[in-house]
Amino acid sequence: MSFSKQLLAWFDENGRFDLPWQQNKTAYRVWVSEIMLQQTQVTTVIPYFERFMLSFPSLEDLAKASQDDVLAHWSGLGYYARGRNLHKAAQLVQETYSGTFPTTFDEIVALPGIGRSTAGAILSIAYQQKATILDGNVKRVLCRYDAVEAWAGLKPIEQKLWERAEELMPCNRYDDYSQALMDLGATLCKRSQPACGRCPLVNECKAFSTDSVAKFPYSKPKIDKPIRPKLFLILVDLDGKIRLQKRPQKGIWGGLWSLPQFDGETEFKTIVSELTLSAQDLLKLKNIKHSFTHYHLVLQPRILFWKKHCSHTGVMGKDFSLSQAYELGLPAPIRKLLISIEGQINVKNS
Ligand code: ADE
Repeated sequence: MSFSKQLLAWFDENGRFDLPWQQNKTAYRVWVSEIMLQQTQVTTVIPYFERFMLSFPSLEDLAKASQDDVLAHWSGLGYYARGRNLHKAAQLVQETYSGTFPTTFDEIVALPGIGRSTAGAILSIAYQQKATILDGNVKRVLCRYDAVEAWAGLKPIEQKLWERAEELMPCNRYDDYSQALMDLGATLCKRSQPACGRCPLVNECKAFSTDSVAKFPYSKPKIDKPIRPKLFLILVDLDGKIRLQKRPQKGIWGGLWSLPQFDGETEFKTIVSELTLSAQDLLKLKNIKHSFTHYHLVLQPRILFWKKHCSHTGVMGKDFSLSQAYELGLPAPIRKLLISIEGQINVKNS
């Protein structure tokens, strides 16, 4: 039996058919789910997807929403560029295609946040078109199946994998085939402890037949990520409100609300001394490490209890009570930090 026949037979028995985006399958719902599923596991995505669809049931609703509202729904999913691009793309589709999601590869791949593989997933899953996918999971499956002796991120290797992925496609059931490949990668052909004993492709898998599954896929050549410490100021005013700043659109946490942040002690001390505070009003909290793709951020939080309203400080931003803040699009480590200091704010300012 061919690769695709074996895979589809396995899918019919073992595939997932009850995921929320598999119900009432529209291009809009498939698109949103595919964006959320980039770099995020199915179980994490499910509640986010459901909340998102309740608030933005159609592409038009999403296009009309404010960026703050969209990012508030993304808060905790990470990789916020995905949320910003999704929103931008919805507005583009609304303007350019009168709200109807496009149906050709070239139109879809031209939208912000949609690469070749995501375009393939949308075309195959939403429109049953013959379109190839090659996300991280699929690359791992193919690298093992063919025992590819190189890192899949290298351009010529990636190109070969695309050709191979196209060659292995069936002549029908394109939607099920894409889903089956992704499900196989996510549930059996996992990065660690793959379940080869249950894999439908085990008899033709080169890595398995040479007893070298653990060797594949080759990893990206390792470079140590730099560590970047930053001071984060929790400025609490008379009413227990905290000062937040909207981050610039470009860069980390773009468009989200975050705490005032400082590169080093010197810059921080200037602000603190301008506020003429006594030492007891300043509290050092435990550092928090948060890793991004290219560096580790070390958050050094400092709480400052100020006896006046924050509007009188030189620190830019807007003031929010904690419950108002939780409604905003907050970066996950900032949300956690605020939750962890709730007790201190209430006690100190009550
Ligand atoms: N990852 C990306 N797209 C996916 C999908 N449709 N199902 C499961 N995992 C995915």
